Amino acid sequence: MPDAALVLLVVALLLVVVGGIQPLAARLKLPSTVVLAAFGVAIGAASGAASHSAFAGHFDSAAALFQELPVTSQTIIYVFLPLLVFEAGITSDVRRILEDIAPILLLAIVATLVTTAATGFALWPLAGMPLVVCLLLGSVVATTDPAAVIAIFRDVGAPARLTRLVEGEALLNDAAAIALFVVLLAMIVSGREPSVLDGAREFTIAFLGGAALGGVAGRLLLFAIPWLGGDRLAEASLTVALAYLAFIAGERLFHVSGVVTVLVAGLTVSALGRARISPYNWAFLGDLWEQIAFWARSLVFVLASILVPRLLVNMDGHDLLLMGVLIAAALVARLFVLFLLLPPLSRFNLMQPIGRSYKLAIAWGGLRGALTLALALAVSENRALDADIHHFVAVLATGMVLFTLLISGTTLRPVIRLLGLDRLSPRDRMLRDQVLALAYEEVCEAVRETAKEYSLSDNAVRATIGPYQEWIRAAGSRDDAEAGLTGRARLSIALLALANQERALVLEAWSQRTASAATVQLLLHNADALIEGARASGRLGYWRGAQSALTFRFGFQAAYFLYKHFGLARLLADKLGERFEALLFTRLLITELMGFTGRRLHPIFGPRIARLARKILAARLDATTAALEALRNHYPDHAAALETAFLRQSASRREIGRYQALFEEGLIPREIYDDLRRSVDDAHRVKERPRFDLGLDTSQLIGRLDLLSGLDERQLARVLRLLRPRFTVPDERIMRQGERADAVYFIASGAVEVRVDNQRIQLASGSFFGEMALLTQQPRRADVVALTFCRLLVLRKADFEQFMAENPDARAEINRVAQARLEMNRRGLANAAGG
Ligand code: CMP
Repeated sequence: MPDAALVLLVVALLLVVVGGIQPLAARLKLPSTVVLAAFGVAIGAASGAASHSAFAGHFDSAAALFQELPVTSQTIIYVFLPLLVFEAGITSDVRRILEDIAPILLLAIVATLVTTAATGFALWPLAGMPLVVCLLLGSVVATTDPAAVIAIFRDVGAPARLTRLVEGEALLNDAAAIALFVVLLAMIVSGREPSVLDGAREFTIAFLGGAALGGVAGRLLLFAIPWLGGDRLAEASLTVALAYLAFIAGERLFHVSGVVTVLVAGLTVSALGRARISPYNWAFLGDLWEQIAFWARSLVFVLASILVPRLLVNMDGHDLLLMGVLIAAALVARLFVLFLLLPPLSRFNLMQPIGRSYKLAIAWGGLRGALTLALALAVSENRALDADIHHFVAVLATGMVLFTLLISGTTLRPVIRLLGLDRLSPRDRMLRDQVLALAYEEVCEAVRETAKEYSLSDNAVRATIGPYQEWIRAAGSRDDAEAGLTGRARLSIALLALANQERALVLEAWSQRTASAATVQLLLHNADALIEGARASGRLGYWRGAQSALTFRFGFQAAYFLYKHFGLARLLADKLGERFEALLFTRLLITELMGFTGRRLHPIFGPRIARLARKILAARLDATTAALEALRNHYPDHAAALETAFLRQSASRREIGRYQALFEEGLIPREIYDDLRRSVDDAHRVKERPRFDLGLDTSQLIGRLDLLSGLDERQLARVLRLLRPRFTVPDERIMRQGERADAVYFIASGAVEVRVDNQRIQLASGSFFGEMALLTQQPRRADVVALTFCRLLVLRKADFEQFMAENPDARAEINRVAQARLEMNRRGLANAAGG
């Protein structure tokens, strides 16, 4: 057992290395994992050499310590893996992942299976090992570390959606590969006759079971959160505990995949946590996990790569051959997935098409990292396996990791340059120039203000802003002359700038917490759709993005489905509240963007483009206002409550700003500042969004029906029991011509349109429809479509008959109306025939 002080010393030294490597990697323009691995291997080799050499004394024992580090695969798997996986989950944007879930799942699971199978079968004839062992090795190398590719994609400005796809894929890919690994390992250890069917079954159980368990574990944590009284330290502690508890519960208690359990627990907390944990605490949580994961990742890398030389000592020519085959097979498998499996997905519109150069970059950038090393170690230390298997898996997997890191990792940038991904197209160059011009304009303005404030001379101002203005002028003439861009291209760049500004404004609203988290996410999503739309197809794309922001999204549809078929109103009410707030904010944003167009776009793009941009914004404003009014008309109370909440939030924002100023001036200590902030957070949380009430209380709705105004109290009470409330969204078809009739509908609020033959008749609140079919015992004579949100009261067929029998006045009125409608339709038909 090594001395504790020495172990700590080694860990501390490793942290020094890990810290020092970050700036070094940045300077060398290499992924930091590459530099870390190189360092680890060097330390391992040096300590190996030193312990064999003649050095004596302290150095010897230090070297021995590196050699005999108390780090086993158990340490890596149990200490670091849960942390790494949980962080990946909690920092993902679940909403985004869900949007692309089909391609991500397909890529992750199918790509894992394809890589495992391809490498396993390629090695099998040559390796002299059973097929399961070859497949096991395949699963070890099937995990990919996307960090390097993503970092470079960000640098070269790859489409955001592509980056997210790679990120999401890697996330689930790891989980799938590890689940598969565990299944294969168990097969080998148990010595059972391997069978595909058993394997598939166990894999599915491990994966789905882990997912279910993780979902429950994440929710348990969220249940506990309110008990902590908003203490950020306590909340953070619970998340760390959750990572380990979920992993151990999955592995030991429920015998499902621990990694999948942890991942889904993290994703659950990420998806639902923002609404329970205050923004301030959430930011703290994010920072903390970033740090934890950084340590875990770096230490795994260094510790595992220290062991590499020891593993590679016994390599021979045959191993080298196998390694070549392994590397080639893994690359071919990845190319196969990218070039043959993805295109059908984009054809079915499940994902954006990915350009050829990007695919090649993704394939070449499929680095293997800490996870592969950890799994290889786990195999090499498993006593139940033969030494041959140890050697086979450890040597080949580490070889693969080293190859991808040292060869692919270092050449990734040149390859990207070769593929032309780092060159800006004329369009992008112009965009960059415009962005710079916008920024410079702002700088100039700020300089002028500062000068005015401090009464500085005009000369100084001119000298300072001169170069900026020069640049802006030059960029202006260069763009026109050189890029030869059409007016259309210029407009799409202006719209892109506008969409970017919208995103910035949303983030500002978030940091100032004027909008709730859910709304901010929705607005960010909308802004991203605008950005991607403008980027891909200019004005049309922007407009499509703007329209899709106003449609009812999947979440809304799902909530509506639950309401319509299972009567669950709560979720729908939430979604409607969310829509309300989002529309309110969108309107605010568009108004601000109008100002931005005048101030910033006009000087750079000229009056014509600015005018067009303003026209597009005006159209957006109209559409948004109309959608908002549709809601507001129905729910004036909620609109008022939202406005109050909005003002309250801006008040608490000011409050916090005040505290911050006091804190920064040293007038209040940290504890008090934290406490004050927390109290504002709490107050804010309780009032976050006023609860939305669908307003489906039958007894209140019934008061709006003229038809029933003649009834006395007893009669009303009877009718009340017969009527069922129903809510509709605009454009919803309530009944179809030719359908069998089962009910009559009273409109408590909103408007519907009756479409009969060529006529369109609008019916407003107080009116009713669907009576004709019941009275005449015939099918429906018309389509009826909701024009707005409506609150309807539904009277079912049997109840209708009872109602008619009991209320002669209402019966007379209904018969009269039905007769008049029949007459009207007959005339309409006659007219149509005559004309
Ligand atoms: P029903 O035939 O059961 O289903 C369609 C409904 O549309 C019908 O009952 C009436 O309630 C309504 N409808 C049909 N024609 C007219 C009309 N001309 N004016 C108003 N409502 C109508």
